[in-house]
This record gives sequence, C-alpha cells and structure tokens, in this order.
Amino acid sequence: MLLNADGSWPAERASREVIAVFPALYPEWLGDRSFCAAHGVRFSYVIGEMARGIATPRMVIEGVRAGVMAFYGSAGLSLEEIARGVDEIQTALGRDSAGWGANLIHSPQESGMEMETVDLFLRKGVRRMSASAFMRLQPAIAWYSAKGLTRGADGAVHRAHHVFAKVSRTEVAQQFLTPAPAAMLRALVQEGRLTEQEAALASEIPVAADITAEADSGGHTDNRPLTVLLPALLALRDDIAGRHGYGDLPRVGAAGGLGAPLAVAAAFAAGAAYVVTGSVNQSAVESGLSEDARGLLAQAQATDVAMAPAADMFELGVKVQVLKRGTLFAQRGQRLADFYRKHESFEDAPRAEVEELERAVLGRAVSDIWADTQAHFQRADPAQVERAARDPKHQMALVFRWYLFMGAQWAREGVTARRGDYQIWCGPAMGGFNDWVRGSFLEPVAARAVAQIARNLLEGAAAMTRAAQLRAAGVALPPGALHFSPRPLG
Ligand SMILES: Cc1cc2nc3c(=O)[nH]c(=O)nc-3n(C[C@H](O)[C@H](O)[C@H](O)COP(=O)(O)O)c2cc1C
Repeated sequence: MLLNADGSWPAERASREVIAVFPALYPEWLGDRSFCAAHGVRFSYVIGEMARGIATPRMVIEGVRAGVMAFYGSAGLSLEEIARGVDEIQTALGRDSAGWGANLIHSPQESGMEMETVDLFLRKGVRRMSASAFMRLQPAIAWYSAKGLTRGADGAVHRAHHVFAKVSRTEVAQQFLTPAPAAMLRALVQEGRLTEQEAALASEIPVAADITAEADSGGHTDNRPLTVLLPALLALRDDIAGRHGYGDLPRVGAAGGLGAPLAVAAAFAAGAAYVVTGSVNQSAVESGLSEDARGLLAQAQATDVAMAPAADMFELGVKVQVLKRGTLFAQRGQRLADFYRKHESFEDAPRAEVEELERAVLGRAVSDIWADTQAHFQRADPAQVERAARDPKHQMALVFRWYLFMGAQWAREGVTARRGDYQIWCGPAMGGFNDWVRGSFLEPVAARAVAQIARNLLEGAAAMTRAAQLRAAGVALPPGALHFSPRPLG
C-alpha cells in the first residue's frame, strides 16, 4: 500500500488497524549479498554441475545471462572435451567473465587426472571450480585455491581462483574450511606450482570460501536431510572461523531437494548463503540429456527415484540416486551387484544364471561385452586388462561397469531401444518441480529453460518468504498464499 505524499495513510486505510509494515523483498535479496559480490552475479543461485556434459556450455551461458551462477558439467569428460566446452563459454561470455565455473571430480582411478584438469583450468582462466566427491583434500585443489593469491592494500588476502566444496559430511567440510596443510603447500612450492608468497597467503585463509551442503540429491548422494546437514555445517563454519580469526566468513550453500519455491525459501530461511539446483535443470532444453529421457523426467513424481549401483565405484558398493519410472535401470543394476557379490567369476557361476543375466539385463553376451571392454582398456588403461587376466572377479566388474556406463550413455543419446536401461540421475526435487509447474507454462518439456526455472524459483521463494513474514506477524494466511504460479519472467 502506498502512503500519501505527506507520509500519512490513505483515507480508506486510516481507519483500519495496522498490524505490521514490511519493506519490499526482492529475489536479489535472498541469501548472502557477499555471494553476489564475490562471484559477479545478481542472484544467490547456482545451476549445479552435471557430469559428462549434461550441464552443457549452453546451460552455463544461459544461466549466467539470467543473472545466476552456473557450473559446467566437466566431470567424466576428456581434457580435450573440457577445453572445448570452456572455449565455448568464454567465447560467449568473455575470457574474464565471472559467474561460472567448472567441476573437478575426485578421480582416484585415473592417476594425474586431477592435476591435469586443474592445470587446464589455470591455463584457460577458469576462475571458479566446484570440487566434488573428495573425502580428503588433494594437492590439485590446494594448488588451484592458492594460485594467484595477493594481499590488497587493505591487508586482506584476495583470491584469483574460487573453490566451491561439495560436501555431505562435516569431517570433509572441515578440510575445506581450514587453510591447506603446510606440508602440502610446501610440496607445491617445491614442484614450482606455487610461489613462496602464494603459499604464505594460503596459510591464512580457508581452502574454500563457499561450502555446498549436498543433501538428498540426484546422482551421488548420502541422502542426508538438508535440515540436519545445513545447521551442522553452519555451526562448524562458525567454530572454525572463530578459531582461525578469518576476516571473511566462508559461506555455506544448500543443495539437494530444491525443486519448488517453498523449498528454496526454506533453504534460505535455514541460513543458506546460496542455493544449488541440479535435477530440475536436467529436464531443461539446454540439458545434454536426450529429449526422450527428458520426457521421462517430466513425468516423475517425488517417489519415482531409487538408489542404484554407481559405475565409477561399483566394486565398493557405492550407489547413485536415479529415476525409476519408465526405466528399469535401478532393478537391473542391483541384479548385477547381487551377482557380483555372489560369484567369484563368470566361469564359477551356473551357466543358466549367466545366460539369464545376458538376456534380462545386459542385452548382449558377456564374451562380446568383454571383447569391447578389453579393446577400450588396451588403449585407455592397459593395467586394467592385465589385472583382469589375473583376477576374474575384476573382469566381471569391468563387464558390469560397461552396462552401468552405457546406461547413462543411452539416456544421453536417446537410444530408445535401450530405454529400459536408461540411467538418469535424479533426486526427489524433480517430482517436487513437476507438481509445482503442472498446468503452467513450464509444464511442457520444450518450455523448460534454465533461466525461467531459476527466475521462477527465486521469485516464488521471495513471495513465500513474504507470506512467512505475514504469518509471523499474526495474519491467518488464506488458501493459496503458499503457492506461486510459474509465469514467464524477463
Ligand atoms: C544428472 C546429474 C548429474 C550430476 N553430476 C554431478 C557432478 O558431476 N559433480 C557434482 O559435484 N555434482 C553432480 N550432480 C549434483 C548437482 O550438481 C547438484 O548438486 C544436485 O543435483 C542438487 O540436488 P537436486 O538433484 O536435488 O537438485 C549431478 C546431478 C544430476 C541430477
């Protein structure tokens, strides 16, 4: 309501009781303002990285143009592919543009990959990097974080490169919230990667200024509830920052389960400095996933997800969260995991069981798959073939990993004959999103642009936050007050 020019209430309202006065609330005001300042974006909102290029360069470009931050899905791509994607982003946005980054994924099986990826990022001028799946801080991350550190005239340490740490455990977060260990920094100096000055400055600041609390999400997840994880990480942050006397407080953002305005508003209300979305962007037009698989995502309800064996860490029993409606990947992947646990080799297993697996799950003869797999590893990593010759259980793991890997590939390429084997990483946020947009302009897959998804989630979250303020002031909210209908936003 507008006041009169002299500051008095308009006549028609003057007689009513004023319960509370609220200043405006814009989506730009949600989250920590320092996030927007540090990363050159309008909104405290991040489009999360999605592996193997599912978060495409185009998705990053469209996100940045809409005023949000975005990470290129560089995990699982070759260095050449990553370089091409970075070039595409920099050509569109400018080499020194802010607001975007790329992903460094922990790659324990590919020695040297982490260092080579960071080397590429540094050479190309990638200023922001999200580090994920790490259980321990690795030298590649400390190198990236410390490279280019300077001390400003104000005495503060200024970063040239920003690490976002994706974590779901406090013991992992702790390693990113503290300075890199002295021995690790010393080794980086001895290898000629850091100067003495950069190492000295690195010992004063946390490795990462942005820690993302990854709750129950699509893909790799510990299925943690955000409402438990976020407060734990905020408390840890406060404790460590107090002990180290940091000038700037590291920020803690929220990821996992954010697919509707109320969820985004709740994350900000719970203290998130910024929010990260994943699953919902996978169904967008800019996604690297095939149209066929995006169509399946658009049908999903919140309960249409399941845990399935992960291709990269199959032998360790690690799982990923995937879509289970319209594809049988979760059940089929589990059959492979059960078979792997039960038998020491294909030869040891009853022939009928192997044939049943070939017919009902793999869709090909084990011998054919092994021939292809062997040829691949002869080129990429011959040690795997040598190990398989000694250890038939390892051969079995490589055959099963072929299926798990191809499940994601078929979904990306839209090989409809293999729809039942599509591996589509997905969390319950997707179902929340589908419920929210039903009947609106964002329901058809063809209309799901990441910019509209982001702007509507944020606008809706601002509206929900206002509604919560009204409720706290004692106003009984009418039905519908906690719903925001998606609308085209410019
Ligand atoms: C298809 C897909 C692929 C993903 N790939 C990666 C990845 O390579 N690295 C990573 O750190 N997170 C990855 N994530 C996680 C997202 O970046 C984001 O943190 C998460 O999806 C947020 O939770 P939500 O799915 O509930 O929105 C992926 C998520 C999805 C859905």
